[in-house]
Amino acid sequence: MFDGRPNAQDRMLRERAERVIPGGMYGHLSTALLPESYPQFFRSGRGAHLIDADGNRCLDLMCAFGPNLFGYADPEIDAAYVAQLADGDCLTGPTESMIELAEMMTGMVTHADWAMFCKNGTDATTMALTVARAHTGRKTVVLAQGSYHGAAPWCTPRRGGVTAEDRANQVHCIYNNVASLEEAVRKAGDDLAAIFATPFKHDSFVDQHGVDHAYAQRARELCDKHGAMLVVDDVRGGFRLARDCSWSLVGVQPDLSAWGKCIANGHPISALLGSDKAKKAASSIYVTGSFWFASAAMAASLATLRRVRDTDYLKRLEAMGTRLRSGLAERAEAAGLSIRQTGPVQMPLVLFDDDPDLRRGFFWCEAMLRRGVYTHPWHNMFIGAAMTDADIDAALDAAAESFAALSAAIPTLGPVERLAALFG
Ligand SMILES: Cc1ncc(COP(=O)(O)O)c(C=O)c1O
Repeated sequence: MFDGRPNAQDRMLRERAERVIPGGMYGHLSTALLPESYPQFFRSGRGAHLIDADGNRCLDLMCAFGPNLFGYADPEIDAAYVAQLADGDCLTGPTESMIELAEMMTGMVTHADWAMFCKNGTDATTMALTVARAHTGRKTVVLAQGSYHGAAPWCTPRRGGVTAEDRANQVHCIYNNVASLEEAVRKAGDDLAAIFATPFKHDSFVDQHGVDHAYAQRARELCDKHGAMLVVDDVRGGFRLARDCSWSLVGVQPDLSAWGKCIANGHPISALLGSDKAKKAASSIYVTGSFWFASAAMAASLATLRRVRDTDYLKRLEAMGTRLRSGLAERAEAAGLSIRQTGPVQMPLVLFDDDPDLRRGFFWCEAMLRRGVYTHPWHNMFIGAAMTDADIDAALDAAAESFAALSAAIPTLGPVERLAALFG
């Protein structure tokens, strides 16, 4: 499966990148955040597999950090994209597909009566905040500590270049902690514009947790009581957990929901959906982008969402995620290792016990990649519908060997130097 070729090409590309790309790479792909031997550059992807710049093939359990839902280079979805390219993509205005897509999404997502399209998840979450402020005429937003909502100055996790003013008008609470949510809302006082929430707690580096019904319900009640907007940031979890907004699973409907990542199977488009209540405010704000009305990604999104609506893909994601989770648990135990697998099975996170600086996680991921499986040491992974039972079984074979290798290496493992800045 894995060709095991040396990564000379990747090294060369990294050197070139160092000269012309700040830090050699940035954001979640910063070289410092991934194991040393991980490829930085890829050549292609097909179905559930990637080929790196050196020609090594691996099963990809990251799905491009979420955007890939039905497999890379999906023939049907990409054909829809290419057909629109042949007719022009970024035109002076949108095609009818924009309306069709808004109709499709509002037809699938219970709380939604309207849609606005943009390019990245950050566009959609930022727009949600702007709509909430326009609707309420207030400024303060309540957010859970550690939740990721994008990389704009108001929400980026790093502080470089971010001013105190960028972070003004925010009060933080603890996810799933009703008392802290109530306290944050109390602090916001009569200035509460919105409560933001991810569909479940999917913060990096720490165990994931499903949302407690009581927390989601209380967020809804507090927004209703104070005339504020409830925003679910479904950018990462959207359509991997449900065919509706993810909080439909706990029976709570937001006023606004932000979408992105997989809604066009990797083609660049994101969306803000809202209820009628928020429509006047959404009409009043000025938001736009040169590429926001381009039609090819909309055509790809229509093809993707038809498959979301009409196939049993969710059942398959769950079945494969469950197979992976139970198989990993068995194999870790057999190697005498204690792991924690958290979050929904479709978006698994694997962390090791007794691993405060992630040295075990990094070792295991590198061992997995040597055996042809791309995993992640601190970010949730993603199950994709192009994966097969045979792929999961191959991942489990690799895991058995990688756990055994880790078990043997534990006494000799040192700290991961590249992570020193993060863990002190
Ligand atoms: C929950 C959540 N919100 C917002 C974003 C930002 O999306 P994008 O990277 O497309 O701007 C992400 C990206 O990972 C996300 O996971």
